Amino acid sequence: MSKQPEQWASKLGFILAAAGSAIGLGAIWKLPFTAGENGGGAFFLVFVLMLLFLGLPLLLAEFTIGRKTQREAISAYRTLAPDSNWHWIGKLGVGAAFLLLSFYSVVGGWIVIYLVQAISGQFVGLDSEGFENMFAQVTQNGWLVLTAHFVFMIMTILVVQGGIQKGIERSTRWMMPTLFVLFIIIVIRSVTLDGAMEGIAFFFYPDFSNLDGQTILYALGQAFFSLSLGISVMVTYSSYLKKEEDLPRSAISIVSLTLFISILAGLAIFPAVFSLGFEPTEGPPLIFIVLPAVFSEMVFGQLFFTLFIILLLFATLTSAFSLLEIVVASVTKNNPEKRKKVAWICGLLIFTLGIPSALSEGILPTLPVIGMTFFGASDFLVSNILLPVGALLIAIFTPLKIKKDDLFTEIQHGSSFKRRTFEIWYFLLKYIVPVAILLAFLNAIGII
Ligand code: PFF
Repeated sequence: MSKQPEQWASKLGFILAAAGSAIGLGAIWKLPFTAGENGGGAFFLVFVLMLLFLGLPLLLAEFTIGRKTQREAISAYRTLAPDSNWHWIGKLGVGAAFLLLSFYSVVGGWIVIYLVQAISGQFVGLDSEGFENMFAQVTQNGWLVLTAHFVFMIMTILVVQGGIQKGIERSTRWMMPTLFVLFIIIVIRSVTLDGAMEGIAFFFYPDFSNLDGQTILYALGQAFFSLSLGISVMVTYSSYLKKEEDLPRSAISIVSLTLFISILAGLAIFPAVFSLGFEPTEGPPLIFIVLPAVFSEMVFGQLFFTLFIILLLFATLTSAFSLLEIVVASVTKNNPEKRKKVAWICGLLIFTLGIPSALSEGILPTLPVIGMTFFGASDFLVSNILLPVGALLIAIFTPLKIKKDDLFTEIQHGSSFKRRTFEIWYFLLKYIVPVAILLAFLNAIGII
């Protein structure tokens, strides 16, 4: 029998935890290099449009499903559409979270390694080739990456096993504000470097000649990834909300914070990259090779780099909490007594699934036929297929299976959402979101 479900202690606690889930490697690591490889400003602009017109409506839909049912991802859909197959949206989400965390934690592990190396002064005196070798040495050292991946996973488990208030809320309440402060310090340093303007221009100037269907699908995937959408993590987090919380306002806060951090990430990285003569198209290692090199040429660079790594670790951990949480909540069915054991078992299984990803960036060969590494293929599957498909299903499910008036009543609880704004949201969710996702898919596979 399930016990009384847990709840957030405060509204701020929920916002910080949800923003913590959203803000992570997506905004700070993936967005800069994806924008860098896809023309900079134009990509960023499409990303922002996707965030506002597709991400925000979907986020509110996930919040509404979660709070209305007060159930974790799978049971939420079962409650709203009993005796149907719709609960597969939840199952798809849990599966995607499992896979996503398995390689997310690998990058978390690299961050742990970089933190230890930064603190112990191992970056001192290296030139850019030195940093490139350093990254290769890290990723090719199987035991090191596996140990770090394990350490990151243990940190995540230790928090999630503590529960909503005593685990996730307690940690995100100090990690997120620290992250914001550190970020601002780094951005001030970066934009005041000589030659920073070129990087700022690259990030903001939209060169549309680089946009094609593939890029638009990437921007869409990036927007969903950045807001943790499509895999029902936000359904799970909002199921712990009290009825009197304001859902639209919370959704707006989270989108704004994510956008703010995405801009800060671009402003931290591109000016520094250009100022020191690097290429913005470095790909995934951008922040692991280029940034340390950039920081090493600055006054107090070691200190700034260490601060940057700490903020990246916090951002990554707070996202990892939400990924493990959705898995744990769906297995325990909100029974707090089972949480500890399930958190350890699921966490260790996810660690195991991450082993090929951890080894695939330096040791294992790329996969035959698809020509990607295991890590790259997992990321592609999650970001460009599972998340958009999940988002599409949620956008179809919500207006189909919840009566329009019931949706309005639920959203209005604790909010002064006007009927007219509600109609706009409903229209975006019911028509624009599914059509945009379908068009992006069709375009990316070359049909239109
Ligand atoms: N939003 C996280 C990031 O941008 O790094 C990644 C993520 C977390 C995606 C949780 C999906 C999710 F459910």
